[in-house]
Amino acid sequence: MSFQIALLVLSDSRSAGEREDKVIPACQEILQDTDLHLAHTAIIPDDRQTIVQELRRLVLNPNVSLVITAGGTGLAPRDNAPEATQEVIERPAPGFAELLRLKGFEHTPKAMLSRGVAGIAGQTLIINMPGSPKAVREGLGTLLPILPHALETLLGMASECAGGT
Ligand code: MTE
Repeated sequence: MSFQIALLVLSDSRSAGEREDKVIPACQEILQDTDLHLAHTAIIPDDRQTIVQELRRLVLNPNVSLVITAGGTGLAPRDNAPEATQEVIERPAPGFAELLRLKGFEHTPKAMLSRGVAGIAGQTLIINMPGSPKAVREGLGTLLPILPHALETLLGMASECAGGT
């Protein structure tokens, strides 16, 4: 089964066209030939209310099963992704963010600086990722083997979780 994904790049400079975005092409490359179809992409400023609005709009789209945000998870004053996401989600799913930090730490100790969160709003999973193309590549590499089953479960389509024994 295939799933539609939305990617929101959160960046003041990239949304203003002052810096070229390389996250969207990186995601497109990684997701090609998978069951996860990158159906919507947008680059928006780090403004908290703008992020909340965009997340709410995407969650209302019944075709979007997963929203990945990239950027705005760090310690800088304008890093608003976790707070905006917390405003939108109804059920936390902390394992995604925990795994991203854990596996990210194998690439760089700075992975612990990401405050990213993950959770469910309606039938949509939202996952925060750090904003560098490198971090997004690494993060997607970590989550890709898990996401199809996670989304099937979310949509009530997974028959069972146990491997049989
Ligand atoms: N995680 C991975 N896997 N790889 C990385 O290069 N960069 C870190 C961290 N997580 C990184 C990573 C850095 S340098 C920062 S500052 C934080 O993510 C927050 O990034 P953000 O503000 O772009 O969200």
